[in-house]
Amino acid sequence: MDWAQLRDACAFFAGHTRLCGAAMDEAQASNAIPEDAPFALFDAWFAEAKAREPNDPEAVAVATATPDAMPSVRMVLMKDHGANLLGPHGGFVFYTNSHSRKGGELLANPKAAMLFHWKSLRRQIRIEGTVAPVPDAMADAYFASRSRDSQLGAHASDQSAPLGSRTEFLGRIAKTTAQHLIGAVPRPPYWTGFCLTPSAFEFWMDRPFRLHERRRFTRVDGGWTSTLLYP
Ligand SMILES: Cc1cc2nc3c(=O)[nH]c(=O)nc-3n(C[C@H](O)[C@H](O)[C@H](O)COP(=O)(O)O)c2cc1C
Repeated sequence: MDWAQLRDACAFFAGHTRLCGAAMDEAQASNAIPEDAPFALFDAWFAEAKAREPNDPEAVAVATATPDAMPSVRMVLMKDHGANLLGPHGGFVFYTNSHSRKGGELLANPKAAMLFHWKSLRRQIRIEGTVAPVPDAMADAYFASRSRDSQLGAHASDQSAPLGSRTEFLGRIAKTTAQHLIGAVPRPPYWTGFCLTPSAFEFWMDRPFRLHERRRFTRVDGGWTSTLLYP
């Protein structure tokens, strides 16, 4: 065996030993992804994200698609969620302008996927399901909780429509402000929440040497079934 072969053999065994060590550490670890209750697991990870993320732990990418399957994705803020939110199958709610690109795609094709990525935790959660607008009373309550400036912005913005100039937009904000000098700002009828009801979750957590852990949950009658996935 020449020196280069010896060096390669040593590198191989050193790597092998580290991988085996990582696998054994993981087998002994108590923080493996549990096998049931994806909403409870979401809550546990979300609580950690709220404690650790420097900003917007509720930020989530939402992917939608046109009826002919052209996808698009953007960030939103997840404002409400729960295993029994708006019905027995639970959901995740965000608010937006239903005349926007995402709003149009969701109304034409009410299926979506969400992706939470918390860099500080090195974790991601994928969620897939069907989407429906929230009840008006719920949208009204959330709209009323927003700052007055945000409420006025919702009136002034034709979200996703072409805009001629920033001056044009600032002019619309000034006009909207003048129209609502006193009293509560009403919710625009096109501004609402959408609730994604999950049919599947996937939890991903970082592990050494890219031996990451993935568990996919799929809805079955009366509950959830889950399986590990290769990383
Ligand atoms: C961190 C973050 C949070 C956002 N939250 C929202 C939100 O809650 N609702 C919303 O309509 N847009 C939100 N936006 C803006 C969207 O990403 C997007 O630009 C906008 O909704 C228009 O998307 P669309 O043209 O695909 O409909 C957010 C952007 C970022 C970066």
